[in-house]
Amino acid sequence: MAIPKKIGLLTSGGDAPGMNAAIRAVVRAAIHHDIKVIGINRGYDGLLTGDIYEMNQKSVADIIHRGGTILHTARCPEMLTDAGCDKAATLVKALAMDALIIIGGDGSFKGALDLAKRGVNVVGIPATIDLDMDCTEYTIGFDTAVNTAVDAISKIRDTSSSHERCSIVEVMGRNAAHIALWCGVAGGAEVVLISDAPDNSTEMVINQIMLNRSKGKQHNLIIVAEGIGGSAKLAKEIEKVTGIETRATILGYLQRGGAPSAIDVMHASMMGHITVKKIADGEKNKIIVYRDGKHVTVDLEEGLAFKRQYDSGFYDVMKTLSV
Ligand code: F6P
Repeated sequence: MAIPKKIGLLTSGGDAPGMNAAIRAVVRAAIHHDIKVIGINRGYDGLLTGDIYEMNQKSVADIIHRGGTILHTARCPEMLTDAGCDKAATLVKALAMDALIIIGGDGSFKGALDLAKRGVNVVGIPATIDLDMDCTEYTIGFDTAVNTAVDAISKIRDTSSSHERCSIVEVMGRNAAHIALWCGVAGGAEVVLISDAPDNSTEMVINQIMLNRSKGKQHNLIIVAEGIGGSAKLAKEIEKVTGIETRATILGYLQRGGAPSAIDVMHASMMGHITVKKIADGEKNKIIVYRDGKHVTVDLEEGLAFKRQYDSGFYDVMKTLSV
């Protein structure tokens, strides 16, 4: 086996708190294994345009605690085309990179799979606030995003309680319910609207609010997943039918920013470290995953086969505790 000498590193897709800690871990672990790291700015886009630089110990100093990504990120439509993938694979080979590390979510890993099919050794580090990858029980950024959202929800709860209002809070997750579900349980919501839930109808929401009122509950909290949307319209309908003042808040991008939690920094450090070790050991085309309390590897293609389903157990707990 040829000893790897040079690897490329990029962050791609939506950013996630902890990406910087993962970048730091990759660079520092690579120094340990005597491997050069070429940082690629703005994801696949920077690869295609040659926006790259050699990273060293100093390039990752003082970033462990910072949100966002010092490599910047982008969604790259060119990588959805055969010509774009061909060009990217040719460039990785021309730059003599023995492996390319992609820090991102499943969309970014699909681009990675296209490169793997063209002979590039690609290793993925899962980082997305959405936690929507079936192959891993953890994706970097989820803990920070949920804590940010629950903190905001608690503040909204204070004012909602003072005014005896109903509050609707829309959280991120275009195609995923995990942030919404965790916020529902950890934020003490009365209702959570997520795709796949048994009932998301306005009628159900209103019945629940009326039932809660009849039991003496003066305020209600409804969490809506971004993929369901329509929070402002729902607020108007609730107010019209029940007469209860209702306000909608869309938390939006604040959930993607901020300093990573210790849990995110831990996962990022472990995943970054193991990625370089596995590349040095000669492993090819993997995703680093967290399973049963351990960081291990799975094959890239196998890892992308399924989308993570919502946890119906969490949904039931939220329902039981919301009485
Ligand atoms: O990073 C994942 C995610 O935050 C989704 O929850 C959200 O729908 C999407 O990214 C928004 O991404 P963009 O930056 O393209 O608006």
